[in-house]
Amino acid sequence: MSFVRGLALAVLAALPLSAFAAGGHDAVGCVGCHAIHTAKDQIIFAVTANKQVVNPKTKQPYSGTTALCLGCHEESAKGGQGYAPINAHMSHPYGLAAVDSKIAKVPGELLREGGRFECLGCHDPHPSNPYYKYLRVDTAKGSKMDAFCAVCHPIKADVATVQEKAVLFTSMDETGNRVLAPKAAAKEKAPAAKAPAAAEGAAAAPAKAAPAKKKKQQQQ
Ligand code: HEC
Ligand code: HEC
Ligand code: HEC
Ligand code: HEC
Repeated sequence: MSFVRGLALAVLAALPLSAFAAGGHDAVGCVGCHAIHTAKDQIIFAVTANKQVVNPKTKQPYSGTTALCLGCHEESAKGGQGYAPINAHMSHPYGLAAVDSKIAKVPGELLREGGRFECLGCHDPHPSNPYYKYLRVDTAKGSKMDAFCAVCHPIKADVATVQEKAVLFTSMDETGNRVLAPKAAAKEKAPAAKAPAAAEGAAAAPAKAAPAKKKKQQQQ
């Protein structure tokens, strides 16, 4: 029994800090990635950039935000922290100074630092991103991955998929509202929407409950 318990504890200890949170970066939190007064890099980043692992395309270490992601998402022997390590040699390309327009047509807002293609081209890592694996578009939990590929490889994708025009998620503009596809927006509001449905036949109850909830929020 103590062996089993020891094993359970060992497994627990080996789990990433995020194991009990909704999305991996919820547990990381703002200050897991951004350090207020003890930053190690640009965008007050809390994690040291990974300068160890080499880009198979350029034979150089990664730079910019990609090197920051790889400060966590690479094995510790290769300069990362072992969280869901990404193996560059077995991956879709990233960390490119420019995009070959014959291979991909990347929307400008997904490029960084004068045309660079980084991890951020495909992922918006902020905890506000509701989509599967922090991807830029809704893929219905990965079941509609073609909609995602079609953002940058439209001529490869089926016409109907391209015509659906995926809404790109971005957290990088505080002047606007969150850009969410209608479906994801509905999902976000799901807990509130559920209550009236459950209270069918008691129509007055949810109407009363709603203002009460609002008041509570204002008091906080
Ligand atoms: C997983 C790491 C990660 C987490 C967690 C994270 N950020 Fe970020 N943050 C980034 C990256 C990477 C960028 C650059 C994004 C880009 O260029 O699209 C960024 C950019 C920003 C910027 C804009 C900086 C600029 O120069 O324009 C702000 C503000 C910010 N984050 C605040 C936050 C807050 C607040 C939280 C918590 C709610 C948070 N971040 C959580 C990685 C993270
Ligand atoms: C401070 C460390 C840290 C940094 C920096 C970081 N991440 Fe993460 N990330 C994590 C952890 C921890 C998890 C959860 C891993 C797991 O569940 O195994 C995670 C999970 C993810 C996931 C999977 C989410 C899911 O729903 O399964 C994606 C995608 C991701 N990160 C992308 C990025 C990108 C892109 C960057 C750079 C902009 C980045 N991360 C930077 C720690 C980090
Ligand atoms: C071309 C788009 C693209 C680029 C560029 C990209 N990713 Fe991803 N990433 C994806 C997709 C798609 C998935 C989901 C794969 C799946 O679940 O089948 C994913 C999954 C992940 C995961 C989750 C892996 C897991 O075990 O669940 C992490 C972490 C991650 N990416 C981090 C990164 C980091 C860090 C970079 C840059 C070094 C990066 N990604 C660049 C598209 C991309
Ligand atoms: C945000 C834009 C973006 C998305 C989304 C995207 N790609 Fe790409 N893709 C690129 C860029 C940029 C390149 C590299 C172009 C270059 O070499 O200059 C590329 C290259 C490729 C290549 C050639 C790889 C090589 O080694 O030569 C393949 C295959 C590919 N992508 C498939 C996919 C698939 C499949 C998906 C969806 C799962 C996808 N891409 C999603 C931007 C994207």
